[in-house]
Amino acid sequence: MSAKPPADIPVKELAAERLTAKQAARELKRLAEEIAKHDRLYYELAAPVISDAEYDALRRRNEAIEARLPGLVRPDSPSLRVGVAPAASFAKVRHSKPMRSLDNVLEEAELEAFFGRIRRFLGLEEEAIESVGEPKIDGLGAALTYEEGRLVQGATRGDGEVGEDVTANLRTIGDLPERLKGTHLPKRLEVRGEVYMSRADFKALNETRAKEGKALFANPRNAAAGSLRQLDSRITAKRRLHFFAYGWGELSEPVGERYSGFLERLREWGFAVNPLAERCAGLEEAGDLYRRLLATRNKLPYDIDGVVYKVDRLDWQDRLGEVSRAPRWAIAYKFPPERARTKLLRILIQVGRTGALTPVAELEAIRLAGVTVARATLHNEDEIARKDVREGDTVIVQRAGDVIPQIIEVVKEKGRRRKRRFTFPDRCPECGSHAVREEGEAARRCTGGLICPAQTVERLRHFVSRDAFDIEGLGEKQILAFWRDKRIETPGDIFRLEETDSQKGPKLSEREGWGEKSARNLFNAIRARRRIALHRFIYALGVRHIGETTARLLAHRYGTFTAWRDAIEVARDRSSEAYQELIAIDGIGPKVAGALAEFIGEPHNRKVLDDLSALVTVEDEAIPAATQSPVTGKTVVFTGTLARMTRSEAKARAQVLGARVSGSVSAKTDYLVAGADPGSKLTKAKGLGVRVLSEEEWLELIGGG
Ligand code: IVH
Repeated sequence: MSAKPPADIPVKELAAERLTAKQAARELKRLAEEIAKHDRLYYELAAPVISDAEYDALRRRNEAIEARLPGLVRPDSPSLRVGVAPAASFAKVRHSKPMRSLDNVLEEAELEAFFGRIRRFLGLEEEAIESVGEPKIDGLGAALTYEEGRLVQGATRGDGEVGEDVTANLRTIGDLPERLKGTHLPKRLEVRGEVYMSRADFKALNETRAKEGKALFANPRNAAAGSLRQLDSRITAKRRLHFFAYGWGELSEPVGERYSGFLERLREWGFAVNPLAERCAGLEEAGDLYRRLLATRNKLPYDIDGVVYKVDRLDWQDRLGEVSRAPRWAIAYKFPPERARTKLLRILIQVGRTGALTPVAELEAIRLAGVTVARATLHNEDEIARKDVREGDTVIVQRAGDVIPQIIEVVKEKGRRRKRRFTFPDRCPECGSHAVREEGEAARRCTGGLICPAQTVERLRHFVSRDAFDIEGLGEKQILAFWRDKRIETPGDIFRLEETDSQKGPKLSEREGWGEKSARNLFNAIRARRRIALHRFIYALGVRHIGETTARLLAHRYGTFTAWRDAIEVARDRSSEAYQELIAIDGIGPKVAGALAEFIGEPHNRKVLDDLSALVTVEDEAIPAATQSPVTGKTVVFTGTLARMTRSEAKARAQVLGARVSGSVSAKTDYLVAGADPGSKLTKAKGLGVRVLSEEEWLELIGGG
């Protein structure tokens, strides 16, 4: 036995060879429990909390201790089983042949040792060991049984011995045939392979889940596992899973002489087989394939975590057989881990082009899968709270393909004081406007639309787009260039462009890409848009939730820029009549009303409106022909309490009929409709000679009596 270890090093950190037998026994017990816990998290809950590298380290330690003290191997040792027993909700399927796992290597020298072992085992001299190298798909294993060419059963790998019957779910995958193609089909054939989700589908799924406030999947593999284990296969179908075939289980007849030939047959039967699989003549080619796949892994549409090498000659595979839980004829040469731990220095808030505030973690730079990573996304406010990520924490960072690195979890460090919980700002860090979060939305958004620098270019581009101001010759490219030159920073600057042309650097006509003619054309195009229809104007402002249709509804209802603006200023107060009127418009609800209120509530936006109203003429909206009525085009004011309907409803009806509803009496008023207790408006109307109608008279006039 080795010398007694220093007392201050915890047993779990002592090297395997330094443990006393007693310590080793305790350590094996701890490892068995620990690994079982992580297996459950990984296989059953599809929610691992440690990285693959950390998990592998636990298993390696377990194996190292067992190798030194074989007498201590426990009956529940992780080395004697793979994964965990399946959950109860699906029928169990015992695999005809156990679904084995693979041994891993991390360096080329270990790959060389793998080929060396095979050479010795088979007693080969100079003969080359041909292998097939193929991407190791980061998904989950599945087995598909075909009888007389028909898919009869599909199962998950489960613990390798017993899986779950997920036939209905596997049938939703397009990459595997329901019926095998071809003529000479085996009576019984079990095809094995990997179920996975593409990165793009994973991203879209998580985006939807974030919007719905659901927990996000940590990576495509977890998302695929979660999707395959749905009790409702319609949900699985929507997740668009994929499958690569790479192996077999039970077979009624031999598959041929070579693995490469078998892959060919899988293709002929109608399976998707990874197109990157290659035959390697020896170690050199194998290493070369590894390096090429490592360099291109980020460009693939799915995650891979290494390269699997399989001896090509099937007679050799048979002779090689397997040891414990893995075949001797195959090995996984893993890529360097894409997860690592580092320190989170600061949480920054970035503002996107649409005003969404995204929290970003500034990290102590680390190398991750060959790339330096100094930042990671934290998605949104809820994710920060859910993971309880704080500045100063040690975190696990993951880079999944070309996706932006993410924070997977916080590493709990006993006894370490942590900083305070992160409070998400309610102001935009770029422009200081309020940042609000609407109900059902994951993101908080800046309301400073037109003045927020983070959103400016996008907003300006929208402002001049076809359904808005429609300024010819002013596209995204030009907007960006003018914005960089500080010639156009606010919408109003567009209309000042000609006048300020000689004040800001060289004249436009003298600049690269421009000439006398094109500059003149642009100025003319801008001048031509100094008159604009109200609905275009409203749409151009780019208020959230206000598309073209909604802008038209608003324009039709309020008729003039002033009426619209006044109404939404007042509608900020939700108890106001103006607010009630706004949401009484067919097609407009609290969401749009809220967005308008927020927009107009920002002083910056009001300034933009003031500026624009001095520069452009907003035309009154033409009343659509379809709503011709006796009150079309008339200005109506309601006062007092109405008996048959609320005032909001009366106004809404009047507007539908093409009347312009105003809040105050003037010489332009055509009718004052007076209910009970009319007050000062009646006096004023009488003084101005405005026609006064009772509620009954009004209803008669509009034909609604
Ligand atoms: S062959 C007996 N080939 O990796 C050998 N496995 O870590 C069976 N995997 O359980 C596996 N891509 O789920 C093989 N091209 C590939 C693979 C692959 C991914 C998975 C498989 C296996 C796990 C082992």
